[in-house]
Amino acid sequence: MFHPLRVSAIERITDDAVAVTFAVPPELRETFRHTPGQHLNVRYTVGGEEIRRSYSICAPATEGPGDPVLRVGIRLVDGGAFSTYALKELAVGDRVEAMAPMGRFVLAPRPGLFAAVVGGSGITPVLSIAATLLAREPLARFCLVRSDRTAASTMFLDEVADLKDRYPDRFQLVTALSREEQAAGLPSGRLDRERLTGLLPALLPVPDVDGWFLCGPFGLVKGAEDALRALGVDRSRIHQEIFHVADEGTDTPPPALTGTPAQSTLTATLDGRSGSWPVQSGESLLETVLRSRSDAPYACKGGVCGTCRAFLVSGEVRMDRNFALEPEETGAGFVLACQSHPVTPDVELDFDR
Ligand code: FES
Repeated sequence: MFHPLRVSAIERITDDAVAVTFAVPPELRETFRHTPGQHLNVRYTVGGEEIRRSYSICAPATEGPGDPVLRVGIRLVDGGAFSTYALKELAVGDRVEAMAPMGRFVLAPRPGLFAAVVGGSGITPVLSIAATLLAREPLARFCLVRSDRTAASTMFLDEVADLKDRYPDRFQLVTALSREEQAAGLPSGRLDRERLTGLLPALLPVPDVDGWFLCGPFGLVKGAEDALRALGVDRSRIHQEIFHVADEGTDTPPPALTGTPAQSTLTATLDGRSGSWPVQSGESLLETVLRSRSDAPYACKGGVCGTCRAFLVSGEVRMDRNFALEPEETGAGFVLACQSHPVTPDVELDFDR
């Protein structure tokens, strides 16, 4: 369900990125209180066309009776309709519709050693995770390895520097710039699997890390995951969120469209109401639902954000790609409706689980 929110501040944080803050009315305070690491799905109509995007919340999570701070980071994406709009036209006082914060790339504050490898705008949710953790849990430490093209294009420089000043003993920062020479001793160039396999054990005791948070472009997240696995880190300690999946460069091409039944029927439950509809040739199960239920949840339609997650009650589906669900979630029966096509004549999904 979408709620209208008023833009209360817009700050330019790099040449191609802004931080946008939304005012939360008192009656929506609890709805919009986020867990660090979650994102906000927004929708806006530009030129008669509805656009949906998800943006991670960069502000620390708040507690108690105060207003939640809803501040998101938005970087200009080539051809990105909402980011272009946000950077060029969005103004304080405008109204944007947003869903309650969601996402499972989260860390509730607890004692321990945590680490993150982020690239570009991947810093956004990790900033909220690190700032909340360090402020609320005196027995927690955090190591942040970030990769950017240049210092000028690095988002949230001040906020990260502030964490370093505030928690000199508990916050460790390493920045790698891929297109700039750096001071001796600091890594430069791209952080790939090979470089991370060498760098991480030199920075911190890898086996003692309680949770790893990887966020950014597909190549960086995949390289970091491979490095951690090579270093013996258990999959259950690795959490990842991918931003900007290019169509090429991924190693999971959609499977061929074989074995699709000539006719299939989808039954879906959404907000307690069920319906059954024929699945039209080639369409995803999300598209089938959306033809009759415009309230079906989605944002990216690209298998990245996880907003369309549903439980597969019966039947079988094939997913084109999945960059959002963890193996435990797919193992437990969850699928991405925007990427799912029926394999059996009858398929049932439950969006309420
Ligand atoms: S809508 Fe984003 S993963 Fe399906």
